[in-house]
Amino acid sequence: MIEKKYGVIGNPLSHSLSPLLHNFWFKKHNIKANYSLIEIKEDQIEEIVNKIKKEELQGINVTVPYKQAVIPFLDLIINDAKETSSVNTIYLNNEKKVVGENTDVYGFNSSFIKKLNNEDLLEKKILILGAGGVTPSIIYSLKKKKIEKIYISNRTVEKAQSIKAKFPFIEIILWENINDISLEMDVIINTTSLGMKNGSDFKQEIEKIKPKLIYYDVIYNPLETKLLKKFKEKEIRTFNGLDMFLYQGQKSFCLWNKINPEVDQELKNIIISNLK
Ligand code: ATR
Repeated sequence: MIEKKYGVIGNPLSHSLSPLLHNFWFKKHNIKANYSLIEIKEDQIEEIVNKIKKEELQGINVTVPYKQAVIPFLDLIINDAKETSSVNTIYLNNEKKVVGENTDVYGFNSSFIKKLNNEDLLEKKILILGAGGVTPSIIYSLKKKKIEKIYISNRTVEKAQSIKAKFPFIEIILWENINDISLEMDVIINTTSLGMKNGSDFKQEIEKIKPKLIYYDVIYNPLETKLLKKFKEKEIRTFNGLDMFLYQGQKSFCLWNKINPEVDQELKNIIISNLK
């Protein structure tokens, strides 16, 4: 049997743990396949997508900064990808069409919404920090559950505005006002890269918060950003981005292999021990 080939496209990719994740599951399920990093420039997207058409590649994940840029090269985009205009999983369907799907929406739902009582979130005010590649998926994941009291703040306000064009029910908060508005919020979700290992951090303090605040950070390296740690010390309920990473991968794997791989402690430990 020939080896199937999968990979993730993006730039930069050096820290991606997707190969570790998928190769672990391939091995566990005795699938002869290999998943690799495919670091490309924007003008190479078409060439890589064509490899799916030619069946030289069986599946691709897409990460920063190409989740939108990849769309014009696909035959169709479906389901959550259509609703978010954000594609992170590509495959060839039975009609030989190159399909773009989104598994970040599922990833956020499984790692956060499902873990709380849905009813609980309906009336909650949610502040989303950032307007990057994963932000539309988080908003749509909440919207699917009718959770719509959503506020967004981004350093570059235009990017928040373009997300609002897609989700008109969200309200924009100026970046300099996040500390003041935080006191009204029940949930704060960080989708920026602030707090990432070897990266920049928040310059403004987020101090004024409700004692019952819930904090979610899409970052998982480190597992606890400075802000998450600070909130945890205040006995705030916190979530890091590790589960979202694992669950988006689970759905991608399932779309490609028709097998739902398990997200368990063994896998988590492997991923955690490989965080650099
Ligand atoms: P992309 O925007 O290419 O999809 P991303 O990593 O998904 O990349 O998103 C980066 C997010 O982190 C953006 O919301 C970005 O804000 P801008 O839109 O203003 O760039 C945010 N971000 C990154 N560095 C930041 C900083 N120093 N201060 C505030 N926000 C920052």
